[in-house]
Amino acid sequence: MSDKAAAPSRLLVRDLAQLATPAGTDAPLRGLALGQVELVENAYVLCEGATIAAVGRMADLDRLEGDVEELDGRGLCAIPGLVDCHAHVAFGGDRVEEFSLRAAGASYEELHAAGGGILSTVRATRAAGEDGLRTTVERHRGWMREHGTTTFEGKSGYGLDRDTELASLRAVRDAGGIPTWLGAHAVPPEFDGDADAYLDFALAEVLPEAAQIAEAADVFLERGAFDRAQARRYLEACREAALALRLHGDQFTEQGAIPLAIELGARSVDHLEATGDAGVRALAASDVVGVLLPASALFLARPMPPGRKLVDTGAAVALATDFNPGSAFCESLPLICSLAATQLKLSPAEGLAAMTVNAAHVLGRADRKGRLAPGYDADVVLLDAPDWRYLAYHLGGRLVADVVLAGRPTALG
Ligand code: NIG
Ligand code: FE
Repeated sequence: MSDKAAAPSRLLVRDLAQLATPAGTDAPLRGLALGQVELVENAYVLCEGATIAAVGRMADLDRLEGDVEELDGRGLCAIPGLVDCHAHVAFGGDRVEEFSLRAAGASYEELHAAGGGILSTVRATRAAGEDGLRTTVERHRGWMREHGTTTFEGKSGYGLDRDTELASLRAVRDAGGIPTWLGAHAVPPEFDGDADAYLDFALAEVLPEAAQIAEAADVFLERGAFDRAQARRYLEACREAALALRLHGDQFTEQGAIPLAIELGARSVDHLEATGDAGVRALAASDVVGVLLPASALFLARPMPPGRKLVDTGAAVALATDFNPGSAFCESLPLICSLAATQLKLSPAEGLAAMTVNAAHVLGRADRKGRLAPGYDADVVLLDAPDWRYLAYHLGGRLVADVVLAGRPTALG
């Protein structure tokens, strides 16, 4: 055994057409700071081990001594590894049949009320078993990575019994995701619509172990799911168990999710398609991040969230896929950036910050993720584009040439 510690491996991504990273260091970014990008032409990124050691102009790069692996960045643009802060990755089966029915006119809420929707995925998820769930989560992680996602949240919420909820959280954690216990997603069939009795069970029987695996808890506060008093009870118990708090709120109707999120000190309130002006003002005056999920609005043909208004009013916003089998079967953050630009009127720079720095903040990792700067994790996306704004511009395009994860190229593309 050598007494000399091995030097960390080094990777130099060189001759990049551009390097773009959100400029602001205070997370979450809001207002004008959300749209400020640091742009370097003819750039390099130097990774040491799993950390970024330096970024800058090729012209300023000093000669490097010793072993350095090189990656040719000619014709490519580097942006930070994308962070998906809202994704339901742990589920069995699919909802392609329901999707087809919706295309023929059925509504998402009607299908849900008729025992389809989320509950049909609950049946398939319970049937998948722990091994099946692990395989599926890894598959979804692969899909996300092909689109540049290097950090992802994974919610449970399709098990709704003790074993399947815990298996979902373990599958997310073991695939390198950040687990969120969505224990209050729907009332499972065995509770026959009795949401309070279900919460009695979930908080007594699932929370103690879920809190050992998950970092956050989430609730679907909506007509037909959980009401405000039930959401409060669930979130207060989860906060007591040291979980960070998230809410699905204002997706179809305003049920007081924003005031509740602010009162309880939640990290985020997500969806906001139905948020009115008072909600926008309240969110802007708070530390709670509004997570916008335009793929879900698109997929369900619902109104888009008031993204421009939120940003202009001073709210901190993040963007995420909401990847799930029912309302957003979409794992591509670049597509979300395109939707943010075309539908929400956020600039590419605002979109980039919302799916890097601000998304990392929602996941409690803004000190390490979301920027290309010394000291941050060496997660880098290489775009096959002459200008980094193709991230929003190349709608549904094959955009990601390679992904560097923890300082190692993953050789996509
Ligand atoms: O974020 N709104 C609640 N939950 C998910 C959809 C779940 C589903 O349809 O399976 C969402 O849109
Ligand atoms: Fe969701």
